[in-house]
Amino acid sequence: MQKNNNVPTLITLFGGTGDLSQKKLLPAFFNLYRGGYLPDSFKILGVARKQLSDDEYRGFVARSVCADDDGKCDREAVDSFLGHILYQSGDTGSPESYKILSERLIAEETAIGQCANKLFYVAMSPKFYDTLLRNLADSGLTIPCSNETGWTRILIEKPFGDDTKTAQALDELLGLLFSEEQIFRIDHYLGKETIQNILTFRFSNAIFEPVWDSGHIDRVEIRLLEKDGVGERGGFYDGVGALRDVGQNHILQMLALIAMDNPTIMNAESIRRKRVEVFEKLHHMAPDELERSAIRGQYKGYREETNVDPSSKTETYFKIRAFLHGNRWDGVPFILESGKGLGEKKTEINIYFKRTKNCLCSPGSERHHENILTFRIQPDEGISILFWSKKAGLTSELEPNKLSFDYQTNDEDDGKTITTAYDRILHDAIVGDQTLFTSTQEVLASWKFITPIVDGWKDTEPYSYKRGSNGPESVH
Ligand code: BG6
Repeated sequence: MQKNNNVPTLITLFGGTGDLSQKKLLPAFFNLYRGGYLPDSFKILGVARKQLSDDEYRGFVARSVCADDDGKCDREAVDSFLGHILYQSGDTGSPESYKILSERLIAEETAIGQCANKLFYVAMSPKFYDTLLRNLADSGLTIPCSNETGWTRILIEKPFGDDTKTAQALDELLGLLFSEEQIFRIDHYLGKETIQNILTFRFSNAIFEPVWDSGHIDRVEIRLLEKDGVGERGGFYDGVGALRDVGQNHILQMLALIAMDNPTIMNAESIRRKRVEVFEKLHHMAPDELERSAIRGQYKGYREETNVDPSSKTETYFKIRAFLHGNRWDGVPFILESGKGLGEKKTEINIYFKRTKNCLCSPGSERHHENILTFRIQPDEGISILFWSKKAGLTSELEPNKLSFDYQTNDEDDGKTITTAYDRILHDAIVGDQTLFTSTQEVLASWKFITPIVDGWKDTEPYSYKRGSNGPESVH
């Protein structure tokens, strides 16, 4: 992490009073601030429809950054952070709002006495993207005010479109209004510490890469399981479903990091290119393969959730057997699974190695033994390897054992620790590193895999499953 590069920076947060801002973004900005990772001179300008004064918004921000106030909230730091917070009410559909916004930002720049960097974070529903992006570009706000300093960048949240066609349209619009270096497409999973560790683990240890292929790996499981249902997000989720919500992005990004070839250098261009190569190798399912290789479910009670269609066929669960073309992964199934309303919250990746050809164990001790490498993304972040060893005593029986690495929990929070995915993502956007952001090619290639599945599922009835279970019974 780089400490602040000291160019004054103005951050505009569209959707400044929304859920994402409140729960993730404002706390992440505060973490960066406490750690000294923001420029000395910066302002965060929340924009939303609500009529609020700067002070009222500061109250909202204070509650957001001290949400888990267990007496540990650093009041002094919060008060000084609030000195950097501003608010502007505005309607994304009204050009007048952008004019006012522009005047506000220019006034800030005048006060600073220098052309400032400008970061625009779109933390809003995708239905507003088109109008917002066009109005923003028309306002001239995204044109840098100087060649030396004063970059402007735009951060947008997933989902990028609903299918290949709409993703392409959104991308064309973005490409028309901004240059690729200005666009930061967010997939917060890429900012998770344990996910970043996948590449380091694979490519900085000589013992794994030689066995990282179909000759040695039997199958890979990538699972993102959630206990909670859709909660307050029914209105958004019902039009999206699990596969678009987390499959097209988080799950495929994890797959890319597991399956990619060595990028050889640690920079945005080479890593993003290797991720695209994986997506381009994904086998696209024909309609008759769908039934065998992809299943979807819906938890009981989903249709009664707030703002969900009472006859909804939206899936809240999926399990897919995906394959990659090419020698390295030929015939290795990648099991992709995710669901809401399940028995546990857990994201993990399991790599199952093939069994040894013969086993040095007593005849009849037939549990014939595979090694499992597990990346525990959350909770209990860490990495473990299951291996087999001889049981002690007069026996040649084997027993499973584990080598395990656990991330330390940071009890002594000194305010300097970068803890959340959003801390990392916001930091990287400010320093201009696009490694953890998805490129236009990645977005399109991933949709080409997902679209035939969502199309094939259209109008089919999802299997239903009990809340708190492992998903539809037919899958297990
Ligand atoms: C979001 C999805 O992108 O990721 C949510 O929209 C999901 O539906 C969330 O709950 C999971 O993220 P995390 O970081 O809590 O695992």
